[in-house]
Amino acid sequence: MSELVKKLEALQVEAEAMLTKAQSSAETEAWFRDYLGRKGALTNALQGIGSLSAEERPLIGKVANQVKVALTTALEARQQEIANAEMEAALSAEGVDVTLPGRPQNVGKIHPSNAALRQINNIFMQMGFQVYDAPEVETDEYNFGLLNMPDGHPARDMWDTFYTTTPGVLLRTHTSPGQIHAMREYCPQPIRVILPGKCFRYEDVTARSEMMFHQVEGLVVGKNITFSDLKGTVVAFANQMFGEGRKLRFRKSYFPFTEPSVEVDVDCVLCEGKGCRVCKYTGWLEIMGAGMVNPTVLHNGGYDPAVYSGYAFGMGVERSAMLKLGVDDIRYFFSNDIRFLERV
Ligand code: DAH
Repeated sequence: MSELVKKLEALQVEAEAMLTKAQSSAETEAWFRDYLGRKGALTNALQGIGSLSAEERPLIGKVANQVKVALTTALEARQQEIANAEMEAALSAEGVDVTLPGRPQNVGKIHPSNAALRQINNIFMQMGFQVYDAPEVETDEYNFGLLNMPDGHPARDMWDTFYTTTPGVLLRTHTSPGQIHAMREYCPQPIRVILPGKCFRYEDVTARSEMMFHQVEGLVVGKNITFSDLKGTVVAFANQMFGEGRKLRFRKSYFPFTEPSVEVDVDCVLCEGKGCRVCKYTGWLEIMGAGMVNPTVLHNGGYDPAVYSGYAFGMGVERSAMLKLGVDDIRYFFSNDIRFLERV
């Protein structure tokens, strides 16, 4: 009997030694076949058990079972070690270093045109202006005629126009036609609105002009509205948009829909008026056209010019953004170059 026990113990020692040599799952499977399988060494060793006496048999059975449990436990541990090692090897072969910092995700942000548009809107909204939405596709009548530019008026040449195949229908060249929509909707109530939106011009695309850009129009109509109301509003706007204490200059100008008309300049935000590339060494940047609403336009909107007066202004959104950011080419805004969009 003790011989069989010794044999089993020796078998366990040998099997454990062999197990440490197994280096792969294939080798642990082979080891299982050799020692614990149906035709393996343990089964073999127990072949003579039938000829043992009834007292010996349970003892041998117990020892054999202990060996089997010990070897099975050792096998599981070895398999786990090998699985870990194989995983490590696979990971380092793939070059994944989980301690490296992750790849940054590109986070979207507001487009510079929209950022400027929102800023302009906010400034006027704080002053009590309402936002009025007007169509981008307009009629000849609204874009020109009702703004005091009847057919054949030479001032129509100030705006190169995209016409559609439908006669009399065009893409608005400026936000000014929205003035007529607002007046016709609100007449005879007083009006204080801004009209932000897209404009289109049939122009060569250059550093200074795009086919599509944004404007914000302003319109105030009421009784006793004067040029000083316009001036106060523009000064308040410029201080918020371009920084407190800006110098402003009102230059006489011409627009068919305002009389008198002005263009408003702000002292160059980049060189503080000393003269630089952006202000073309004049020290001044033009920010908007403005004026007192022409009596003909008030009349076209339904208001009696003898009773009502008003002022209006219109500014280019990208233009303002360019001045603020020191960008010297409007084409950057719509060319979708991520380097520009990230920088501004
Ligand atoms: N609509 C003009 C343009 O696109 C800008 C403008 C000038 C708007 C004077 C106005 C204004 O309301 O009073 O060039």
